[in-house]
Amino acid sequence: MNWLRKVLVSSIGKKVQMGISGLLLCGFLVAHLGGNLLLFVPDGGKAYNEYAHALHTQKLLLPVAEIGLVVLFAWHLLLALTTNKDNADARPVGYALQCSKQEPGPIAKPASSVMMATGAVVFLFLILHLADFRFELRNHGSEGEEPFAKAARLLKDPITCVGYIIGTLVLGYHVLHGFQSAFQSLGLNHPKYTPLIKQASFAFAILVGAGFASLPLWFGMISRH
Ligand code: HEM
Repeated sequence: MNWLRKVLVSSIGKKVQMGISGLLLCGFLVAHLGGNLLLFVPDGGKAYNEYAHALHTQKLLLPVAEIGLVVLFAWHLLLALTTNKDNADARPVGYALQCSKQEPGPIAKPASSVMMATGAVVFLFLILHLADFRFELRNHGSEGEEPFAKAARLLKDPITCVGYIIGTLVLGYHVLHGFQSAFQSLGLNHPKYTPLIKQASFAFAILVGAGFASLPLWFGMISRH
């Protein structure tokens, strides 16, 4: 099994793992966004409440999915930190200008420090988000509050509202580059498919950024009922 360890810690191995973990996280984002967009169904919160209750009755599946998500986030974060360190160690003299080896195109590849910085903002957003929604450390609601009422109430909080808009737009930017880079790391680099992957990344980033940001924007700034 020594060969497996060698492959996993090699720089190519880490890139591939980064791509796989990133794409799995993108899968979570799609599922999470799909559920959250039910908040917009104009039925007084019925569809969203039914969805949230159905999710919480999954007594075995939910904890397994939650543990899986924590492992996935931790794995992605650890790979980002170690790859960043490897790159810094391999570059004894700092470049005055960080440039990319990628050909110029409609979406220029940012320096890895930009991905680290946007990743850090998303991480901070996630802490705020879990403190609010998952652990209810701030802004306690009334006993037996329905999920729709809880979400609408939390999104009205000014810190939550502004923090979520910034966090989710930065997430869109992170995903824009992460998504296409994941396919490259998995070896899908072809003159025929690369432009398609870039377009798909762009569409996906708009969906994720605008889709998530629309919720605090609507509940916290526009509707406020
Ligand atoms: C901005 C709109 C968003 C809303 C309204 C929202 C809403 C929610 C709700 C209602 C929960 C369930 C809490 C519970 O267990 O009761 C949740 C959990 C979670 N959300 Fe979000 N979310 C949003 C954006 C995001 C984004 C952009 C991410 C990822 C970067 C994210 C990651 C998570 C994670 C990891 C959990 C924990 C899952 C679990 O342990 O069950 N959320 N969110």
